[in-house]
Amino acid sequence: MSRTATPRHYLMVRPTYFDVEYSINPWMDPGKPTSTELAIAQWGWLHDLYADLGHRVELLEPRAGLPDMVFAANGATVLGGRVLVARFRYTQRTAEADAYLDWFGARGYTDVRQAQWVNEGEGDYLAVGGRLLAGTGFRTNPRAHDESAAYFGVPVVGLRLVDPRYYHLDTALAVLDTDEVMYYPPAFAPESLEVLRELYPDAITASDDDAAAFGLNAVSDGRHVVLPQAATGLIGQLRERGFEPIGADVSELLKAGGSVKCCTLELRHA
Ligand code: ARG
Repeated sequence: MSRTATPRHYLMVRPTYFDVEYSINPWMDPGKPTSTELAIAQWGWLHDLYADLGHRVELLEPRAGLPDMVFAANGATVLGGRVLVARFRYTQRTAEADAYLDWFGARGYTDVRQAQWVNEGEGDYLAVGGRLLAGTGFRTNPRAHDESAAYFGVPVVGLRLVDPRYYHLDTALAVLDTDEVMYYPPAFAPESLEVLRELYPDAITASDDDAAAFGLNAVSDGRHVVLPQAATGLIGQLRERGFEPIGADVSELLKAGGSVKCCTLELRHA
């Protein structure tokens, strides 16, 4: 099976102020040393890779005092050119939303609004096959799902996450192609797992080790799938399905509980 890449438009934030200063997910240990320099180098590699793959990458200026700002996926959901800016669950990140409101406003996006309910953007909303898969359980409020369905005018499929290590949907499920996903079954509540099995009977499922390596925190353009390099099982499974997996070294970002997808907000104009 041969796979076709389509050029994407991404928004990223350089980890200039990256650090682990607090703990809002089980991966974060403020007692462990971090290197902002290494985070910048790993992020830079990812940024340049997207450009080499032919994608358009825009940058939002990081703000001091917001060490998690590199995780651009959490800043908004953008679909059909409409922007729903996040409302963060934890006070440590709430000020990030202003930067996104300013950025989209200045770029001439006309439909820009901040979510009314707690909503962590593409961390919990993944667009696939004309619908939005929407996570809840740890961050995004389920009432935000209705708000998104009304705002974007697309069906929203709510999925409940149950394992605190996989607190955002994009840590437990990745979109690969028009109607293809891969996911980690134990991260989902039984009723949500049933929905996923029904919608995607042939989906790739991840092992415990690959999930723990953040292998589901992946970015696909329909052909190339960028994911943490330690997710070796998934890399093999993807290759078998005709994708071209590209392993990334994101060890520093993992200390904050994020990786490839978390750093990448897709701007969808259609
Ligand atoms: N430290 C960040 C947080 O807990 C990591 C966010 C990772 N982003 C993601 N899309 N999963 O909010």
